[in-house]
Amino acid sequence: MQKLNIFAPLAYFHGGSINGYNAQTAPIFMPNTVGGYMPGPRDYPGNTSQPNSSKTIIAALEHGYVVVSAGLRGRTIIEDSKYVGKAPAFIVDMKAAIRFIRHNSELLPGNVDRIITNGTSAGGATSALTGTSGNEPFFDKYLQELGAADESDAIFAASCYCPIHNLEHADSAYEWQFNGINDWSKLNYGTGKIETGKLNDEQIVLSKELKHQFIDYLNSLQLQDNNNQKLSLDDNGQGSFLNYVKNFIIQSAQKALDSNQTVDSNSGVIIENDVVKDINWSKYLSFITRMKSTPAFDDLKMDNPEPNLFGTEKIDSQHFTKFAQEHSKVPSKLADQKLVQAINPLQYLDNKDSAKYWRIRHGASDRDTSFAIPIILATSLKNTGHKVDFAMPWDTPHSGDYDLRDLFTWIDKVCAEG
Ligand code: DHB
Repeated sequence: MQKLNIFAPLAYFHGGSINGYNAQTAPIFMPNTVGGYMPGPRDYPGNTSQPNSSKTIIAALEHGYVVVSAGLRGRTIIEDSKYVGKAPAFIVDMKAAIRFIRHNSELLPGNVDRIITNGTSAGGATSALTGTSGNEPFFDKYLQELGAADESDAIFAASCYCPIHNLEHADSAYEWQFNGINDWSKLNYGTGKIETGKLNDEQIVLSKELKHQFIDYLNSLQLQDNNNQKLSLDDNGQGSFLNYVKNFIIQSAQKALDSNQTVDSNSGVIIENDVVKDINWSKYLSFITRMKSTPAFDDLKMDNPEPNLFGTEKIDSQHFTKFAQEHSKVPSKLADQKLVQAINPLQYLDNKDSAKYWRIRHGASDRDTSFAIPIILATSLKNTGHKVDFAMPWDTPHSGDYDLRDLFTWIDKVCAEG
């Protein structure tokens, strides 16, 4: 059983208020500490162990929010010789925590009609899934097994930094973006060293196949831009969706210029008189570089976090795409495809208990997943009537919580509006 921590500003214990909020009306902010789909322990102000969101918790309390930090299981936890933190444990624990605070709302500070989740990367995916999957029946069985309260687990708003989600389409999206760039480089968090490599001949062939899978997937979504124009890709992976993606980067560079940030002259961004006119896409991709080899997530030796997330009580790692299972280099099984879909936030776009308000950020130099992935999330949410604030901050790598002042301004606005 995971535990949770609940914090309220001291003023609320004496009947005071901060920024117009009091013990009854304050939004309930729920940052998580999940990264890499590893366990995300409950957290507290002043915590210095890794991972932690201590600075975020302190800033949120100073701003007048009630903070609930729930411990969430992750893919490496073993109890009684069983893996107990494989998918969907992280989201089940999150929902159990939300049900707990709702069940005890008379006793606890904060407004349970204003719950806002927040997280980065796998934690951003956790926030996104919490946002779309409110009260979805798929999770009932797991929540009952855990003894979760019989309450709603719907939330008001979700804040997601670089969410690593839509895993079953992330490999193909990655190759749609990086096909043709065969050198990769990434930081090994364990050793602190940069590792580099080159796709081999087989991976180059797989990259092309995956790229074409993405074209079919994207076209099947029938996404629309803000002017209700259809977003699609041709057989070469070009077309209105690519232009739409490029435009987010162009807007990002323009915003950087407007606030006197430097835009690197090697980035492929074409500037005339302080106006971004266009972007040389292949130059931009070479500038940010490919991080992952092929397939990027469901790798053929199952060394990545994602196959490990889809293990079972007895099996540590499993492939989660048919493609990787067919090309696997190790003895392997295919994970239950219903479970893989069930932890994809996009599965629940038509859910009437999904969060109404969304703030999604994905750095313009983030290469942990394809730009297509957060853009599909933001656009699908918009197309299904959600209120979405999406941007790709310039020169920003895979990271989160870098603009808390703006995040809190957004939370205050949507809380007042909703
Ligand atoms: C995270 C980053 C990744 O590149 C990934 O594949 C999974 C998770 C993370 O930082 O949480």
